[in-house]
Amino acid sequence: MSSQQIPEENLPVVQDTAHGAVEGAGDPFADPGLPAHRPRIQDIDERAARRSERAVAFMFTLSMLATIGFIASYVIFPVDKIVYIWPLGHVSALNFSLGMTLGLALFLIGTGAVHWARTLMSDVEVADDRHAIEAEPEVKAKVMADFAAGAKESAIGRRKLIRNTMFGALALVPLSGVVLLRDLGPLPEKKLRSTLWAKGKLLVNMNTMEPLRPEDVVVGSLTFAMPEGLEEDAHDFQTQIAKAALMIIRIEPENIKDKREREWAHEGIVAFSKICTHVGCPISLYEQQTHHVLCPCHQSTFDLSDGARVIFGPAGHALPQLRIGVNSEGNLEALGDFEEPVGPAFWERG
Ligand code: FES
Repeated sequence: MSSQQIPEENLPVVQDTAHGAVEGAGDPFADPGLPAHRPRIQDIDERAARRSERAVAFMFTLSMLATIGFIASYVIFPVDKIVYIWPLGHVSALNFSLGMTLGLALFLIGTGAVHWARTLMSDVEVADDRHAIEAEPEVKAKVMADFAAGAKESAIGRRKLIRNTMFGALALVPLSGVVLLRDLGPLPEKKLRSTLWAKGKLLVNMNTMEPLRPEDVVVGSLTFAMPEGLEEDAHDFQTQIAKAALMIIRIEPENIKDKREREWAHEGIVAFSKICTHVGCPISLYEQQTHHVLCPCHQSTFDLSDGARVIFGPAGHALPQLRIGVNSEGNLEALGDFEEPVGPAFWERG
């Protein structure tokens, strides 16, 4: 016997399950076959199987409670509550609770499924011959039959307690994602549709910071205005002015072509949003002969004598007009907010 030969008593013995014959003795490359199946305690003792079933159901039930705890965390813990937890130190109570409960919920679903598979599902090993990748119709039929047999062996139909608690746990876990939507921030509500303009708000000249009077607005001039009360050092000044800035011009009333524009003007003084409806650049170039204003960014041109409609360029909408009047002290005032969103179209602004 050479040094590389295997003693005959150590060679594998192959069980031909089809014919019950022993083959391959003496052949080190012979298929060793499948080991004999050793039944588990759950396979032979129904009480042990019931214990395993209850254990699996217990884990799925705990998972459901953990998911409920995850959702409850959002209600119980304020965002800024800090607690000391050894050995982590000072941590956010909300983050800690969310992490623990969601982790536990997923872990228990996993351990429940593993315990179910190891104790109650069939553990009989099955050898399958390799076959061509493209399945024949009869192979597909066999797969479906195997699937049905697997479903039957998993006892999902018979073990209703496991099935129901598993479905409960799986259905509840996605709810965690729903409460996370809160972290996307507060809803915009009417912020995209409303500006600081309201009935009675005075028009303030952005150069002099004084309330505008009709006599300040002469034919051929372009005046920029903003609402009274908006301070330049306010933290949200840029946000507010980006929505509320106005262009004020005076046009002889008989030269105003648009009927609504004429009605919303005060003795030919009209107020339009200064924010271009293309992508929001401030408009500043006024052509007094034609009453056209030009956006310097992409050359959109609006006719302020005709409802500020677009006569050239990529802008998709007319400039919104603000309805104005004069108060008892002779100052120009707004008679309400804009009726359309200012600047680029609503969805373009996000
Ligand atoms: S932003 Fe005014 S034309 Fe583009």
